[in-house]
Amino acid sequence: MDKPEPETRNTQLETLKSSWDHKNTSSNLKPRTLALSLSKGRASNFKSPLTFLNLCRNFTTRNFATHENQMKKHIKNPFEFGKIVGGGQFCNRTHELNEIRSYMLDSYSFWLYSPRRYGKSSLIHKAFAETKGVITIYFDLYNVRSLDDFCKKYAALLAKHLFSWDQEVRDLLKTFTRYFKDLYPKVSFGTDGLPMFSLEKSNITHQLDVETILNIPKQINSGLNAPICIAFDEFQEIKRIDPFLIHWMRSAFQQHPSVSYVFLGSEQSLMEDIFTSSNSPFYEFATKMSLGPISHTDWLDFISENFKSSGFTIHTDILDHMLQISEGHPHFTQFFASVIFDLVRGGLNQSDPEFKELWLNKIIQSQSIIFQTLYDQLTNIQRLILTNIAVLGEEEELFSIKNKERYKLPANSSIVAAINSLIKQSLILKKNHRYHILNPVFKAWLKTI
Ligand SMILES: Nc1ncnc2c1ncn2[C@@H]1O[C@H](COP(=O)(O)OP(=O)(O)O)[C@@H](O)[C@H]1O
Ligand SMILES: [Mg+2]
Repeated sequence: MDKPEPETRNTQLETLKSSWDHKNTSSNLKPRTLALSLSKGRASNFKSPLTFLNLCRNFTTRNFATHENQMKKHIKNPFEFGKIVGGGQFCNRTHELNEIRSYMLDSYSFWLYSPRRYGKSSLIHKAFAETKGVITIYFDLYNVRSLDDFCKKYAALLAKHLFSWDQEVRDLLKTFTRYFKDLYPKVSFGTDGLPMFSLEKSNITHQLDVETILNIPKQINSGLNAPICIAFDEFQEIKRIDPFLIHWMRSAFQQHPSVSYVFLGSEQSLMEDIFTSSNSPFYEFATKMSLGPISHTDWLDFISENFKSSGFTIHTDILDHMLQISEGHPHFTQFFASVIFDLVRGGLNQSDPEFKELWLNKIIQSQSIIFQTLYDQLTNIQRLILTNIAVLGEEEELFSIKNKERYKLPANSSIVAAINSLIKQSLILKKNHRYHILNPVFKAWLKTI
């Protein structure tokens, strides 16, 4: 680089100064180029050698700080939501994992209800990944369109996990035909070159055909020498898929002593109806397991550690306040932590008294239109009950005379009807004889109206 003329140098110096002063890095001449160019002019070109030295030192520190900030901006947000989490993103649940492990090894079947996004799918994936010596199959019923679709998807999963694919395709096909009989099993090759299983029979709906598939785990089990665990996620969908399927399942599954079946579901009334109604085929078929929120203490460690390993810290009061609002709900706790992480990474000061309001308002505002639309669709009594539940303290009773007078609630029968409807809409949940608003952001929004 040639030494610039004095005039050019002065202009460059001005540009450099203004880029420092205004953090303006968009000038045509990059600060580093300018600094190098200026340094060619030597200290003697400046009024005093100290000016140049200070300027350089200043530049280096500032430039380094800017660079460091930019680097921080690119540190990945460690909190994850909206997907199945595992590994470092999985917090605690040690007790539940141990319980599931022993159910699997003992070939016990169990069912588990929790509201959506409480961590059922993540929990079962983690249990499956960690339990050695058990063959595990996971089947999500959410996107199953029909009985035929169920049979084909389920058969493909059974074929993938229960059969040895380490043999000639011709032999594999023979084995499949022995088990899947006249359902026309086929082995083809995908674009990745790997063999794939499918059933070619069109529209499988006949009871005998469905039972053939349902009984494969029992048929094959004796040759496998390992217990099998099969999890059906979003099991409440079963009645939508076909009203008879649940009956056929029960009569098949009760003859599979070495298989543990897991039924996960997010609709309380449907799941309870399936497993606790005396006239349901699955009545007392499986043990009930519960899944609550994750405890405050477990979250404290998990969140502080994740901040720390990303090079940041979260203040204890901010964390406590956030957990108080999320009430330990797995999805919302991760979501809130990720929003706070974003703000801290962006340089916001947690000691600022407004910080607590800031992150929460950011979240509430992003969803207020949805909440407003939802609220508009409710009846007056439902709105009254919902807002009352949102502000009700730990010790206060919804049905107490004091509360009913204070909020001018109608007769008990009308309150009960409103509550039932709110439960049906998955807006509230009954737990330990108390009513809770499921979505903590919605609860925070209700408190603002
Ligand atoms: N054990 C856990 N530790 C940390 N976060 C969790 C845990 N379980 C669930 N989550 C959070 O909740 C979200 C929803 O979990 P998911 O397993 O899909 O719930 P569900 O199957 O009950 O709807 C996840 O994306 C994650 O953010
Ligand atoms: Mg799930």
